[in-house]
Amino acid sequence: MKIGTVQLASDAMLAPIAGFTDVGLRDVARRYGAALTYTEMISCKGMIYGSEKTKELLATTDIETPVAVQIFGCDPQIMAKAVAMPEMRKFDIIDINMGCPVPKVVGNGEGSALINTPKLAMEVVKAVISATDGRPVTVKFRKGFTKDQDTASDFAKYMQDAGAAAICVHGRTREQYYMGKSDWDCIANVVHSVEIPVIANGDVVDVDSYNAIKLHTKADGVMIARGALGNPQIFKEILTATTGKKSYYKEVDCVRDILRQIQVLKEHYCDRYIYSSMKKQVCNYLRGVSGGKAIKEKVCHVTSVEEMVEIIQGLKGLI
Ligand SMILES: Cc1cc2nc3c(=O)[nH]c(=O)nc-3n(C[C@H](O)[C@H](O)[C@H](O)COP(=O)(O)O)c2cc1C
Repeated sequence: MKIGTVQLASDAMLAPIAGFTDVGLRDVARRYGAALTYTEMISCKGMIYGSEKTKELLATTDIETPVAVQIFGCDPQIMAKAVAMPEMRKFDIIDINMGCPVPKVVGNGEGSALINTPKLAMEVVKAVISATDGRPVTVKFRKGFTKDQDTASDFAKYMQDAGAAAICVHGRTREQYYMGKSDWDCIANVVHSVEIPVIANGDVVDVDSYNAIKLHTKADGVMIARGALGNPQIFKEILTATTGKKSYYKEVDCVRDILRQIQVLKEHYCDRYIYSSMKKQVCNYLRGVSGGKAIKEKVCHVTSVEEMVEIIQGLKGLI
């Protein structure tokens, strides 16, 4: 699959998931064959006001090539200014978040609120394109805003007209948040409505659902979010089953993966951030493991990275 001038090695990508898809998890997902990874959502206001917390989220590793940054905001000028900053130069693709349902974001007219203001959304896309020296600009949005609303095909056309190089459609509305089913019919309609590549998103958790969403929607690519949490090997399974290509990691080894995540995070974050953030990631890896509850308890009480590493090393053969 190609996004603008950027060629991807396959068509299955890791979705941005705020609070989860940090540089550590993304590194491991790439080693298993994710074709593209995105940073967590980056506030354009945070960037231009020099927020260190925002800039910390821009960390990447060498294996993330190509790599996308996901930005959010609703002021075209601020967004253009943010993407023109030197820290943004390393990103091959700029993705604009128009799907976030969180009240604080929506209340500012950002994230999924932009679905309701397509003219402004177009201005945002045009402004970002004007500041990115020809690099592709993409948009990730939802089926609609209110409960059963489906505005996706109309919105997709607006995004195409504004110059988006590709779009990703999550088949749930803002009101649904993450509940109910992703509407793959809606995504299929979008694929019919535009000429730019469409990435389908929602409810892909294994090779079967990956194949099913591709067949149902005829989308060019597939984005996986919750199905990859504690399960980054999903990308190896998809790559092997669909292309026969080998991923960098040939064997699945969750202990190695967690330790790799920690090692990557150590290059960018303080001890406290790492063990706090890794607690939820480790719990995801332990889902369905017999005796996992007791281990989760232990992990949730650690107060240093060293302590966490010791517990993880003891899990060899268990996960
Ligand atoms: C906790 C959480 C955080 C998320 N953060 C983001 C985000 O920062 N940017 C974004 O575009 N989507 C975000 N999403 C949405 C996912 O990328 C994806 O669209 C959604 O979960 C549907 O895909 P899935 O069914 O594969 O999980 C988030 C989802 C969850 C559950």
